[in-house]
Amino acid sequence: MKLNEAQIIDNWNDLLGRIEHQFSGERKDKLLEMYKHFEDRMMFAPASSREHYHNCFPGGYVDHVLRVMDCAFDLYNSWMMQGAHTDNYSVEELMFAALNHDLGKVGDLDNDTYVPNESEWHRKNQGALYTVNPKTEFGLVPDRSLFLLQHFGIKYSWNEFLGIRIHDGMYEEANKPYLVSFNPDSRLRSNLPLILHQADMMASRVEWERWKYGENGLQNVRTLTNTPKAKMMEHVATKPKASPKPEKTPSPASQLNTGADTSKLFDELFK
Ligand SMILES: [Fe+2]
Repeated sequence: MKLNEAQIIDNWNDLLGRIEHQFSGERKDKLLEMYKHFEDRMMFAPASSREHYHNCFPGGYVDHVLRVMDCAFDLYNSWMMQGAHTDNYSVEELMFAALNHDLGKVGDLDNDTYVPNESEWHRKNQGALYTVNPKTEFGLVPDRSLFLLQHFGIKYSWNEFLGIRIHDGMYEEANKPYLVSFNPDSRLRSNLPLILHQADMMASRVEWERWKYGENGLQNVRTLTNTPKAKMMEHVATKPKASPKPEKTPSPASQLNTGADTSKLFDELFK
């Protein structure tokens, strides 16, 4: 699996087009400034270092980011259709987090994260086509992503911060306190981080399958190319409103699941 020169350039223009069309004001200008700054490195960066991970080839990074944005958009619609809350975060926040979630994979201010592996043995026997650049100081990808955004003066909301910070879900031990909670007040307040994590997993799996089983045409079905924000919103599904049902008195057993006064019910049933 690899991209030719024209595909790499198309993807790069697609990425810039999305920034141009889906964001606005000072934030858009600063995003464009940062992406232009990294252009030479980012356009050719891989998404991972081993061929059996995902998108381990020149241009793999941008290809992955575009796919994650599309998956996130589709999943947003799926969550909405299932009745999940979508009013405490915006599509723009989701797209911003998806766009920048793996920024740290490109490297630090001066150096690439992944450099071609000079060891033929490791390339052949372990599929390690790239190796981690010893010039870059160790940092978790999401932390480096957030560092780079702040370096370029790009502001982000808490939803966007959290989406990027914990997009690896439970694969990253450090995310556990955000995702495992026994306290109702400390549960995630929005579904954005969960949707982005799902989108990242979906995109990575599709990319792995493309490496494993070959092309399947997904390259050409992207939906968000150069799509203005207003146009995107036309494609956000709206769930048909159900007609109101006549009120029924809930049984004591069903009240256990409604968040009603369960301690009172407990007293009635068992004391
Ligand atoms: Fe990713």
